[in-house]
Amino acid sequence: MKLFIFGTLALLLPLAFLKLCYALGTVLVLRRTGGALFVSTSRAKIRAMLEALGPLSPETSFVDLGCGDGRLLRAMYRRFGILGVGYEINPWAYVLARLKNFLAGVPAEIRREDFFAANLKDYDLIFCYLFPDVLKDLAPKLRKEAKEGAVIVSANFPLPGWKPYLVLKEEDPIYFYRKGT
Ligand SMILES: C[S@@+](CC[C@H](N)C(=O)[O-])C[C@H]1O[C@@H](n2cnc3c(N)ncnc32)[C@H](O)[C@@H]1O
Repeated sequence: MKLFIFGTLALLLPLAFLKLCYALGTVLVLRRTGGALFVSTSRAKIRAMLEALGPLSPETSFVDLGCGDGRLLRAMYRRFGILGVGYEINPWAYVLARLKNFLAGVPAEIRREDFFAANLKDYDLIFCYLFPDVLKDLAPKLRKEAKEGAVIVSANFPLPGWKPYLVLKEEDPIYFYRKGT
């Protein structure tokens, strides 16, 4: 009986600790993320998105705005050899992204910064999976800063005021935009 109790506790305590880290990390940055929680894009969606983007040069400059655990960065590296940049302000997600990149041997850069403070002019390809409240502020920033011809991919929610050149249905919609069209 004692063994059972200790065994259960040994399993549950680390899980509870991880949950607490997640909750704390989320609450700490809630004001800036507008409630955009650390939820990951599914592998099926990532696959569909990469298929739709077609072959890309390893020189493509790529950024994931709010990169979560960094899975998009790893997928871009594995598929196209692209070394992207990820912005992430949730400390929990940031640590996870760094750890997973390290374990996967993917040297993509993760910045623990607010992407609203960054200039997005240098990127050929911009990905985001953010909530409508955040996209409302991001849309004019991209209009101002993104380079002509840059491709912007938004998972699940559309960019207000932008006209997609493609909408893929893979579980939820994935919107593809090109600056200047
Ligand atoms: C829905 S998750 C998407 C994660 C990842 N891009 C993916 O598709 O799996 C959105 C992430 O954006 C981060 N985020 C939201 N606003 C941010 C900001 N202003 N600067 C940096 N990260 C932000 C959140 O912390 C969260 O982890």
